[in-house]
Amino acid sequence: MKPMELILTRKSVRTFDGRNLSAEDREKLQAYMANIRNPYGIPVKFVWLDAGEHGLSSPVIQGEHLYIAGKVQKGEHCEEAFGYSFEQLVLYAWSLGIGTTWIGGTMNRELFEKAAKVQDNELMPIVTPVGYPSGEKSEVDVKLRNHVHGDERLPAEELFFEGDFSTSLRDREDCLETVRWAPTAANMQPCRIVKCGNRYHLYEKHMPGYRPDALWDVQKIDMGIALCHLMSIAGGTCEIADPGIAVPEGTEYIATVRVQ
Ligand SMILES: Cc1cc2nc3c(=O)[nH]c(=O)nc-3n(C[C@H](O)[C@H](O)[C@H](O)COP(=O)(O)O)c2cc1C
Repeated sequence: MKPMELILTRKSVRTFDGRNLSAEDREKLQAYMANIRNPYGIPVKFVWLDAGEHGLSSPVIQGEHLYIAGKVQKGEHCEEAFGYSFEQLVLYAWSLGIGTTWIGGTMNRELFEKAAKVQDNELMPIVTPVGYPSGEKSEVDVKLRNHVHGDERLPAEELFFEGDFSTSLRDREDCLETVRWAPTAANMQPCRIVKCGNRYHLYEKHMPGYRPDALWDVQKIDMGIALCHLMSIAGGTCEIADPGIAVPEGTEYIATVRVQ
């Protein structure tokens, strides 16, 4: 599958068929993980966690045996870097027919952090189950998808703008469509983009529950995922250079992608 198709077909998988991950697939994921990079140059570590060995589970996941936890050193832009890198793993897994779900909330965090040996200078914002999707979804899976409207997204005109925040972008660009369909925590979709010539300026719209004093901002992880999708399709280079465009209240500049 091409990146566009991968991104547009990926869904969170919360119901697995109970099979163990094959040794071949595990090796492929392992090899891929070792080479994942992000534009911030901040390393993200991936840790395999055997659910049975560590007594790990999630109330929304069924039929899984294995998790992968992601860890990153605390610091500026660590959330965006984390989102960018973890999404590459998620998309590669999907290309192999392996299902994942970003889990930041619905887990016993203490147990997972202990199993992943998280150090004081590290964050483990997200874990994912890894396995083969079941043909049928569990009841809790169906309920959760309905609750967060997992199969829906905001219309493009509410997300993408031209020149400033007052004019919606007229063109339907593939790279922006992949940003629109990116997974986000509770499907809140905080990413807003203002296109100016060959530059895409990414902004985070703070959603209800946003806390500037939190240990980490889960929506900055969403922003890293959006950046990953945008650059997977449009290419270009990423820089942090706030263009000084007037922003709506509760909206924060994150990064700019400059394409050729
Ligand atoms: C940063 C982040 C955290 C998430 N945390 C959870 C979680 O704790 N539990 C869960 O079931 N889904 C979680 N999700 C998955 C979202 O609910 C899901 O991506 C969204 O509803 C869209 O559905 P889709 O992934 O099938 O497109 C999270 C997603 C992201 C990006």
